[in-house]
Amino acid sequence: MLAIVLLLALPFCTAESASSYAGSTVADSYPPSGATNTAVDTYFPDASQVGYAGPTPSGAEPAAIITAVPFSKVEGVFPLSRPNSADGADTTFNVMHQWGNFAPMYSVESFGLPDASPVIPEGCGINAVHLLMRHGARYPASDEPEPSQFASKVHAAASKKGFSVTGDLEFLATWTYKLGVNGLTPYGRESLFSHGVAFRYRYGKLLNAFTDLPVFRTTSQDRMLDSALNFAAGFFEIRTYETDYHQEIIIEGINFNNTLAPFHACPNANSDDVGSFGDIPSGKWADIYLQDARKRLQPMIQGLNLTIDLLIDMQELCAFETVALGYSKFCDLFTEEEWEGYEYYVDLNFWYSCGPGNPTAAAQGLGYVQELVSRLTHTPINVWNSSTNSTLDSSNITFPLNQPIYVDFTHDVVLASVATALNFTSLAASGPLPADHIPPHRSYISSQIAPFSGQLVAQVLSCPASEEPTHIRFLLNDGVVPLTGIHGCTEDSNGLCALPSFISGMHERIGQINFAHDCFANYTMPDPDHIMDGRCPS
Ligand SMILES: *[C@@H]1O[C@H](CO)[C@@H](O)[C@H](O)[C@H]1NC(C)=O
Ligand SMILES: *[C@@H]1O[C@H](CO)[C@@H](O)[C@H](O)[C@H]1NC(C)=O
Ligand SMILES: *[C@@H]1O[C@H](CO)[C@@H](O)[C@H](O)[C@H]1NC(C)=O
Ligand SMILES: *[C@@H]1O[C@H](CO)[C@@H](O)[C@H](O)[C@H]1NC(C)=O
Ligand SMILES: *[C@@H]1O[C@H](CO)[C@@H](O)[C@H](O)[C@H]1NC(C)=O
Ligand SMILES: *[C@@H]1O[C@H](CO)[C@@H](O)[C@H](O)[C@H]1NC(C)=O
Ligand SMILES: *[C@@H]1O[C@H](CO)[C@@H](O)[C@H](O)[C@H]1NC(C)=O
Repeated sequence: MLAIVLLLALPFCTAESASSYAGSTVADSYPPSGATNTAVDTYFPDASQVGYAGPTPSGAEPAAIITAVPFSKVEGVFPLSRPNSADGADTTFNVMHQWGNFAPMYSVESFGLPDASPVIPEGCGINAVHLLMRHGARYPASDEPEPSQFASKVHAAASKKGFSVTGDLEFLATWTYKLGVNGLTPYGRESLFSHGVAFRYRYGKLLNAFTDLPVFRTTSQDRMLDSALNFAAGFFEIRTYETDYHQEIIIEGINFNNTLAPFHACPNANSDDVGSFGDIPSGKWADIYLQDARKRLQPMIQGLNLTIDLLIDMQELCAFETVALGYSKFCDLFTEEEWEGYEYYVDLNFWYSCGPGNPTAAAQGLGYVQELVSRLTHTPINVWNSSTNSTLDSSNITFPLNQPIYVDFTHDVVLASVATALNFTSLAASGPLPADHIPPHRSYISSQIAPFSGQLVAQVLSCPASEEPTHIRFLLNDGVVPLTGIHGCTEDSNGLCALPSFISGMHERIGQINFAHDCFANYTMPDPDHIMDGRCPS
């Protein structure tokens, strides 16, 4: 803290002195490179050598999901400081909730079922739970160079004559770029650990029904494995988690089949004109919502033109610095309206790149949906026509079908595409998103679908409680999702669908999605105003 105060208090940051650090990139590593690691282990005997641990008889497993709202709504921001906006007019306005896929997960009140709660409906019992969870807060990914490019541009400008920063942008004179790449931030690790603990409170009792060690899945990417391990350390406990379950690590890489990273098996999902289609409407929208910010902030910086792209980078830096460093000076540069504009910018990107408005979205989500149906029906998959991997999924060791708890880690775009493949039509209820204004009461909000640590939970229930499951329902970030878009599921204020109806609806949906065509065929982007279910129109 002291060091930060001193830095900000540096008296006069002229253009000359700024050039050495404004926007320069700095990096540290732990342990520091000069550190020695003297072997003194004999001085620090481990617990078994020390002894005297005291008795710890175990209690019963919790199952708060049956009885009461287990804890107050997740805010999930401890220990980060809460960012302000430029106007700060409304104390209930939470800037973090406007960060799209960079928002920390928060509990969604409702997806249109105001009376439903995460607690299972009265009279029902919980038979199984399926969790599909996004990794925690991370640094910018390798394919997101924008925040570091902003830093290089500031740094290059600062080395030229005529650079100066004043007012709200004065901090740039001493600002350095401190973010890593790809990995989880410390807060990201903490968040996964806490969500692991929370999951134990909600569903711990289901552990009693295991006949073998649980198999949880993730992918090979560093942040994915890190997320899975931090979750497990919270769900089990730090000293035993490594032997309390099996961690399956599925290869995530180009041309590998992986239902938790299906984009690598779906070439059209990576093409500029189809897979990145969302860049077009979101770019149009950015040109609108950031005009005022440009006019307000440009006079505070000389020697660098604040383009719309640079302003987006600054909004992203607010989110990335906050989750990586605990706070960011970029946040309060933008008004509440501009933060709402940013959320919508991400919404457009998700809707048209991996949501209902993209012709590869349902195909990308298909593999997980086939796996879900296989688990629900205890029937092995035997047709390999999506991103499923036959080597892994045809084995009951690597793909068991009898678990009471399933935990799978994934990415933001996969949560969005799985929601599309599941035909969660309530998310698409307000229709294709316009690029020129934010429609009132829109149904598609990316921070509520795919935030950091975002989670899709399927509760398999019996109503009334019994050994045999009768119903299913879905919670997306704690908000219960109506299933009325699924053929056979009827309206229900708790979001319940009879299990056989859900399964036959999913069989029908699976039959409608053509992975080979949507992912591999050579087509141009169809008119996006006519795609609402994530499939290529035939
Ligand atoms: C399927 O998974 C196995 C086991 O990890 C791996 O060896 C194989 O390359 C994968 N195949 C594809 C097509 O991804
Ligand atoms: C900023 O843009 C203006 C006009 O677009 C141009 O004349 C000027 O050279 C630019 N300044 C810098 C520092 O790039
Ligand atoms: C990978 O997916 C493709 C396309 O669905 C499929 O043809 C192939 O058999 C799959 N490979 C494995 C190992 O599952
Ligand atoms: C797994 O599959 C093997 C061979 O198909 C079978 O013998 C075994 O009973 C199965 N185990 C379970 C738990 O289903
Ligand atoms: C998916 O949703 C669309 C739009 O509501 C509907 O027409 C279609 O029948 C649904 N598909 C299934 C399999 O439920
Ligand atoms: C893919 O396989 C499923 C069975 O798992 C089948 O219902 C569906 O029709 C197949 N899709 C295509 C396009 O062949
Ligand atoms: C895709 O189709 C377009 C137009 O028909 C054609 O110009 C292009 O060469 C095709 N690309 C591939 C990879 O076949």
